[in-house]
Amino acid sequence: MAQGFSREPGTHGPLEEVPKRAARKITLWAAAIALGGFLFGFDTGVISGALLFIREDFALSSLQQSSVVSVLLIGAVVGSMLSGKLADRIGRRRTLGLVGLVFLGGTAVVTFADGFLMLLTGRIVLGLSVGAASATVPVYLSEISPPAIRGRLLTLNQLMITVGILVAYLVNLAFSASEQWRAMFAVGAVPAALLVAATLWLLPESPQWLITHGRPEVAHRGITALIGKDAADEIVRRAQRRAAGQRADREKSAGREKLLAPDVRPALVIGLTLAAVQQLGGINTIIYYAPTIIEQTGLSSSNSILYSVCIGVINLVMTLVALRLVDRAGRRPMVLVSLALMAVSVFLLGLSFVVELGSGLTLLFMVVYIAAYAGGLGPVFWTLIGEIFPPSVRAEGSSVSTAVNWVSNFAVSLTFLPLAAALGQGETFWIFAAICVLAFLFVARYLPETKGRDADEIDRALHQRFRSRQ
Ligand code: GLC
Repeated sequence: MAQGFSREPGTHGPLEEVPKRAARKITLWAAAIALGGFLFGFDTGVISGALLFIREDFALSSLQQSSVVSVLLIGAVVGSMLSGKLADRIGRRRTLGLVGLVFLGGTAVVTFADGFLMLLTGRIVLGLSVGAASATVPVYLSEISPPAIRGRLLTLNQLMITVGILVAYLVNLAFSASEQWRAMFAVGAVPAALLVAATLWLLPESPQWLITHGRPEVAHRGITALIGKDAADEIVRRAQRRAAGQRADREKSAGREKLLAPDVRPALVIGLTLAAVQQLGGINTIIYYAPTIIEQTGLSSSNSILYSVCIGVINLVMTLVALRLVDRAGRRPMVLVSLALMAVSVFLLGLSFVVELGSGLTLLFMVVYIAAYAGGLGPVFWTLIGEIFPPSVRAEGSSVSTAVNWVSNFAVSLTFLPLAAALGQGETFWIFAAICVLAFLFVARYLPETKGRDADEIDRALHQRFRSRQ
């Protein structure tokens, strides 16, 4: 819990400040929660390989094929919108358990689909759970994390997303010889079942949620068992003070309106902008369409699934680097360096098409671009989404920002191929380069550092940045 475990303002503790045993236990919880991220990655990635065989079995038109891919994104918009209210009402733990059940249901429907409509239905259901997971996981992670290791634990979400994508590509590879697309989907049932089991038997409820919902003694007991009574006294006292403030806020405004309150506005502006930028920088054109792009440089498409695996590996390895850096270097420098490198590499990627620099250079620029994203903007966006909103609107703020992330994802995925056909492949990449430059300027001006700070300190830093720039 960003706020729950926080010490006195100003003590930006190093990693060592969290007792080792406690840190290990919290990391285990975080890994279980991040199974939601794994499912997000797996279910968005698995379709690329499965589709090659489904389209034969069900004789799908190209419109039907793109619907099967993109309805998941629409389901995710709806799922992320709905999950904020749910996570506030029934708690983070139960919401995630429910999300796991919906994952299981969606997986069963696609696995046993007898035709296009059933497949589409299953993909929508999977989308609902992917969206709900993507909004709930950062909030839950943030609320069980001590500030000193919060960045690392929040980054675990993106790490599991990238692991999910890679595992999906590998599962595609494993079952492609035997053309068993149903088996590809069915694999998703294992992490979904594990997620449900974890919410039933392993995970504690978020202490901040317990305190906000009138059960401080349960939160106190949990934290005492973890890091001792003195720390628990202090943490619960501060969280209660915050919860009292929230109740007063709630009386003033209701529901989503709270998000528009002047004191929440800076967080909302940052959340929504970064959510859009993370997608409008063009990353999923590579994640979803790499084989198509590579093919256009003149390389053969016969190894397309293998190319995807390489991209998946780079994505994962650089996310691991980000995980190590985030609590040391801080979020702000990482996002800035990431955006600068993305802008340059995606510009060069575009250039390699416009003046035909050859497939080797195209591949090189593509790899640098993925690496630049995965080492910064990709993971740090999900970190920031869990920490910039004040606790009273954290679930709602994450839910709305995540919905914008999915809408932007849908927009880019839908328009990429038509844009490339109309403007040219290279010119389309230049649009992404321009967006990265604008995003760099925005982040340089408005994003405060959140590393090691508790909820109150982050709030103050946000307001300072926005105030001093008006
Ligand atoms: C992020 C994005 C997701 C993308 C992934 C790639 O999690 O939100 O859309 O596919 O990164 O690693």
